[in-house]
Amino acid sequence: METVHTILETRKIIKAWKKDGLTVGLVPTMGFLHEGHESLVKKAAAENDKVVVSIFVNPIQFGPNEDLEAYPRDLDKDKLVCEKANADLIFNPSPEEMYFDNAVTSVAVKELTEGLCGSKRPVHFQGVCTVVSKLFNIVTPDRAYFGEKDAQQLAVIKRMVQDLNFDIDIVGCPIVREEDGLAKSSRNTYLSRDERKAAVILNESLNLAKEALKSGEQYASKLTGIISKKISSEPLAKIDYIEIVDSLELKPVCKISSSILVAIAIYIGNTRLIDNFTWDIK
Ligand code: PAJ
Repeated sequence: METVHTILETRKIIKAWKKDGLTVGLVPTMGFLHEGHESLVKKAAAENDKVVVSIFVNPIQFGPNEDLEAYPRDLDKDKLVCEKANADLIFNPSPEEMYFDNAVTSVAVKELTEGLCGSKRPVHFQGVCTVVSKLFNIVTPDRAYFGEKDAQQLAVIKRMVQDLNFDIDIVGCPIVREEDGLAKSSRNTYLSRDERKAAVILNESLNLAKEALKSGEQYASKLTGIISKKISSEPLAKIDYIEIVDSLELKPVCKISSSILVAIAIYIGNTRLIDNFTWDIK
């Protein structure tokens, strides 16, 4: 496995692979890799001849008061994770390599980015869509892998690929969790011991909503109420949002009649964590 830092080197390697007729899978990440990322790389390795993992903490998807500086980084450990998961190439550019001083172009997906995390993080999805478009153009993968952990991101990228005619299959991958149910996240490292214990409330509250759906609950407001009550029972937790939306367009629903996404963002202390599940009407 090789690690390269420039677009030119990456293009050279990929050109040689393509000349040999090999297929390429891309796993875009911001590094500090855990088993969630690893599952994406393994899936990509199973479905493609070659796998590229991009590791880039993308400055333009962080708001001015967000955690860009504090975001955890450990390239040496990331290399071991990628190697073990059968990646072939790590693309690890600097911000200067990715963005020219005079760049004036960005990619914005409308509507799907207005609710959920988009309403709380105004620059976020434009930053994500711009960097992912650039990665798609640099790596030209056959398939790209994204986690359902970031359900809105996955829906937005799928729509961007459709709208802009990228010839790339977007593959969604299930959420990987800790033993107690907390979704794995690079940001879990910010949690103190007490906060870490409190963070199970995200998954627990979603499980209560799932139980209610199983018992035939049809009203979104009832589900929101159940989740909100559970979260409020944890003194270290503060609700950022609880939303029930249709899973394609991400528009709020009142009565549940199609496939829905139940998504939450919760502050545990100063750390903002997200979780979700999708519920399909049979
Ligand atoms: P990052 O947070 O590093 O996540 C990279 C990919 O790993 C995303 O597709 C995310 O959904 C997936 N992932 C994270 N935790 C997961 C878990 N517990 N189970 C399954 N998949 C998980 O998302 C980003 O980076 C950035 O926005 C990026 C797409 C790289 C653009 O900068």
